[in-house]
Amino acid sequence: MINLIIDGIPVEAAEDATILEAAAAAGIEIPTLCYLKDVSSIGSCRMCVVEIEGTDRMVPACNTKVKEGMTVSTKSERVLSARRTVLDLLLADHHQDCFSCGKNGACELQKYCNEYGVEHSSYNSCRADDCEDVKNSHPFLSYRPELCIRCQRCVNTCEKITGRKAIGVGKAGVFSIIEAPFGPDWKMSLCESCGNCAQACPTGAITEKRRKHYREWEVKRVRTTCPHCATGCQYDLLVKDNKIVDVQAADGPSNRGLLCVKGRSGSFDFVHSGDRLRYPLIKNQETGEFERATWEEALSLTASKFMSLKKEYGVDSLAGFACSRSPNEDIYMVQKMVRTCFGSNNVDNCARVCHSASVSGLAMTLGSGAMTNPIEDITHDVDCILLVGSNPEEAHPVVGTQIRQAVQNGTRLIVVDPRDIGLTQYADIHLKLKPGTNIMFANGMMHVMIEEGLIDEKFIAERTEGFEELKEIVKEYTPEYVAEVCHIDKDKLVEAARMYASAEKAPI
Ligand code: FES
Repeated sequence: MINLIIDGIPVEAAEDATILEAAAAAGIEIPTLCYLKDVSSIGSCRMCVVEIEGTDRMVPACNTKVKEGMTVSTKSERVLSARRTVLDLLLADHHQDCFSCGKNGACELQKYCNEYGVEHSSYNSCRADDCEDVKNSHPFLSYRPELCIRCQRCVNTCEKITGRKAIGVGKAGVFSIIEAPFGPDWKMSLCESCGNCAQACPTGAITEKRRKHYREWEVKRVRTTCPHCATGCQYDLLVKDNKIVDVQAADGPSNRGLLCVKGRSGSFDFVHSGDRLRYPLIKNQETGEFERATWEEALSLTASKFMSLKKEYGVDSLAGFACSRSPNEDIYMVQKMVRTCFGSNNVDNCARVCHSASVSGLAMTLGSGAMTNPIEDITHDVDCILLVGSNPEEAHPVVGTQIRQAVQNGTRLIVVDPRDIGLTQYADIHLKLKPGTNIMFANGMMHVMIEEGLIDEKFIAERTEGFEELKEIVKEYTPEYVAEVCHIDKDKLVEAARMYASAEKAPI
């Protein structure tokens, strides 16, 4: 540990900590604009400058490491004056139409200008004329370059966090501009509309279009789970006058501050949709029109119809099928009704059908038909990912995003899929199996691992059953045989088996 003094307070910090991190741990807040935790520390805005005793130059706290015996001042008059100059310069190129800006009340530049008493800029703008455009062709996001402070948080988020690289920096020096693909051709770009750039933007430069319908102080936040896929992303619903007006990603265990386009822009409009059923409807048999009914009438009618079917055709004429989007309690009630009222065991749930192969396979091999690891385990600090017959970029986009992140950080990726899914671009090996030959492929992988001694004998002896039988079964699945049946290259199969088996941490 390193010992230093910040604003007269003795602070202990890890050897590789920055001054910003050491100060934050000691409860001392240093203002930042271009810095974004774990994403961006390019040190370009200089808002976080601090003084270090014994040196002339002020340094950015966000990317200067602590040193033993350092004495740091974060609030000296020189530091405060430097920050005012930074804000003065930033305001020169920043349109001040705060009243109409959707980020009013949530803009970090506005907050600091207010705190540091900077009302106008004393410099002239050097923005190019074309910065006046409002780029509005994107369905969910708007881009106003004239509000951009070139902090590059959006660029770094798009590159390092979502792994897309759809946003870049164009031109040079004072004329540099963030090139966000939100113009008429946005569909041709790499942008997948996740909006993580907008959440990273400290000003109103990149924002969700919805922001114009509310101001920060008008909403209350309600933490919940995204209803789309099974990733379980946490987010806050922003509620104004009892109406959901926006969502913002929260730092949940599976999404860590990220959302996909479905979660951010397609997960709440239906709540207030005029098409929703708000009360029961019963069809008038004479007119054929649905008419409003009471719950009592609707439930009585449904129950009597079920009971008359049961009486006429027997208990096996009835079944119940529960929706996978329902909570456990509702699904429990469906089976209760089917078993006790219908008197039948004809009850099922979508999750059992679409996952039946993995559920029975996992139950047989590991004892439980459920995911064995948290998502963080799949995407963080892993050496190799084996992705078989799954397209997470489409089905579970936030997992797909995190797999791209993992690959950027050095994880090897093996994609086994007949299709050229998006993640094949990031894969070290893509095995395009003939559809229906997955078992053959798995046996081929195990054959190579056993033949080449790439297995953990001790683990197998202590923790598994039936290994000798398995060994016998996979003996005939030579790479040549498997390659022929699966329509793949035998050397690629061997390479995949070696890559997977020699990795220390390798989720499937
Ligand atoms: Fe440190 Fe921008 S926040 S230089």
